[in-house]
Amino acid sequence: MDLRRGLDDPDAWSSLLYAITGRRIGPQAPTAPTAVIRFTSLADLPNPPTPLIGREEEIAGAVSLLLQPSNRLITLTGPGGAGKTRLALGIARASVDSFEDGVAFVSLAPVTDPQLVPSSIADGLGIKEVTGQTVMETLGAYLRDKQMLLVLDNFEQVVAGAPNIASLSRICPGLKVMATSRAALRLSRSLLTKG
Ligand SMILES: Nc1ncnc2c1ncn2[C@@H]1O[C@H](COP(=O)(O)OP(=O)(O)O)[C@@H](O)[C@H]1O
Ligand SMILES: [Mg+2]
Repeated sequence: MDLRRGLDDPDAWSSLLYAITGRRIGPQAPTAPTAVIRFTSLADLPNPPTPLIGREEEIAGAVSLLLQPSNRLITLTGPGGAGKTRLALGIARASVDSFEDGVAFVSLAPVTDPQLVPSSIADGLGIKEVTGQTVMETLGAYLRDKQMLLVLDNFEQVVAGAPNIASLSRICPGLKVMATSRAALRLSRSLLTKG
């Protein structure tokens, strides 16, 4: 999917939403839903067709928490439809300039096997498998020197994959992870519990 086409092309937005939320919005079926989307710069992300309503304070609050050095893992929790994905995109957009290596947004909506979390993230980052290394080792080596925000959407699908995220966080000091989840992950600061 070419995100640079922007919203002048409604199909591009519709495919993006489908890939992020798993829901089909708009008249055209997307050609192939993808598990992962990466935005190195949210400047490349098309603006949503509808405005984000009434989340300014939450976005500002979340960004300020996210940028505190002691907060490395943050979860947005709430029921389906509460606006987690939308809020996560808003937070990512508002904080992208604070991360030298940008934001990677990985939708785990199509992923149900927790063991596939590392490879889904690696795919999203465009990292190739390295012979003789586990995916976690390769990911760790790649992210160790990066200043990056990794957004993991729909983490409730793969809660058992949380320890791998905690390990990555430990070895990658410049990495911040923001997960959205219907269920609390018990490993990070939870920002939102309402919905
Ligand atoms: N603050 C908001 N302003 C406008 N639309 C919103 C807002 N929050 C959510 N939505 C819309 O509501 C729907 C559900 O939001 P979504 O972020 O997908 O929820 P969740 O990820 O919690 O299931 C989407 O169509 C989204 O665009
Ligand atoms: Mg969502």
